[in-house]
Amino acid sequence: MEMTLTEAELTDLDRIRALHLRAFGEVEGKLVANCAAALLTEASDPSTIHLVAGIEGAVVGHVAFSPVRRKRPPQQIGHILAPLAVEPAWQQRGVGSALVREGLRRLRLSGSGIVFVYGDPGYYGRFGFTRELAARFVPPHPLTQPAGWQALGREPRPGADGPVAIECVAALASPALW
Ligand SMILES: CC(C)(COP(=O)(O)OP(=O)(O)OC[C@H]1O[C@@H](n2cnc3c(N)ncnc32)[C@H](O)[C@@H]1OP(=O)(O)O)[C@@H](O)C(=O)NCCC(=O)NCCS
Repeated sequence: MEMTLTEAELTDLDRIRALHLRAFGEVEGKLVANCAAALLTEASDPSTIHLVAGIEGAVVGHVAFSPVRRKRPPQQIGHILAPLAVEPAWQQRGVGSALVREGLRRLRLSGSGIVFVYGDPGYYGRFGFTRELAARFVPPHPLTQPAGWQALGREPRPGADGPVAIECVAALASPALW
């Protein structure tokens, strides 16, 4: 199979929504699809990276990396990977891994610092995400699955006063996502 990895366009919005609905199922899917759509339309500095995987002209995967700031003192420190989904019929064929690796490659090239993710360590561990690094940062909302909080990359500067509180873009503000 030949797969392309390209930056998502605004015109991909409906296809990205539909993809998340199918991948995450009815209930969680609505929440995640809305989040993906909000990320695609929200302006941020630096801007959110959206990648889509295409096979045979169809969008079969999507991932977003949006900027993360330290709260005090305010400073851009990296990105968070969310959401990620692969069309059910195309799962288990390396599409998700290719999207994650390409996003991480682009972030490294642009000199981004740390990358957070909130998901299954059984999946994200393979890319180098660890719970140990993430434990030094407090996410914007209490986590329902604390074991899923992971990070990768360079720590901006160890917090002298303990864990560093971080904040995300508005599209990730809903407590239900955490
Ligand atoms: C999770 C998801 C993005 C993975 O994409 P994918 O293209 O199917 O994954 P890849 O082909 O790159 O990787 C497959 C590997 O991931 C593992 N894997 C897939 N989903 C997993 C999960 N939820 N937890 C742990 N491991 C998982 C597979 O067992 C396989 O492992 P192996 O390489 O050791 O055999 C995709 O299954 C998906 O969209 N799931 C529904 C939405 C979702 O859960 N998104 C992630 C939210 S954090």
